[in-house]
Amino acid sequence: MSHAEDHAGTRRDFLYYATAGAGAVVTGAAVWPLVNQMNPSADVQALSSIRVDVSGVEVGTQLTVMFQGKPVFIRRRTEEEIAEARAVELSDLLDTDDRNANKPGLEATDENRAVDEAGEWLVMLGVCTHLGCVPLGDGAGDFHGWFCPCHGSHYDTAGRIRKGPAPENLHIPTVAFVDETTIQLG
Ligand code: FES
Repeated sequence: MSHAEDHAGTRRDFLYYATAGAGAVVTGAAVWPLVNQMNPSADVQALSSIRVDVSGVEVGTQLTVMFQGKPVFIRRRTEEEIAEARAVELSDLLDTDDRNANKPGLEATDENRAVDEAGEWLVMLGVCTHLGCVPLGDGAGDFHGWFCPCHGSHYDTAGRIRKGPAPENLHIPTVAFVDETTIQLG
């Protein structure tokens, strides 16, 4: 596949990553004995929380997994991406709410949006806040983060809306590291 074809096949790329992500997802082991006792259907277990092995995610790449029927972007950011996000003034943002389910109602600083203090990990719903398309990643758009081609929304390296019709920053789900290489969603 040529370089140009590689970048042209955006839909195919997403499907590839979603499939790869599904392989990395494991059900929360600690949750299992309790839910098993309660005997819920298999899809209820799938909805409560999932754990994702991120040991294979290289710096500068993104893993996309499906959680509660939506894509979730798990990006391991480069130093440059972190620095670019942290250099942005709040007054330059279109949406100043952090949109973080872990820390609701805070300002949309990069520190309030990243999972870890150093800011290497950024986990967000891969759902454009305009009409719900899946934005393209890997430095896409004018602000080097994500770009939604549906109507031209540009998100920065912290997933904050910077230009275009989307009204809100990409939302951040309940997320935490449960050990060094495992992220829990939900
Ligand atoms: S759905 Fe993303 S810009 Fe409209």
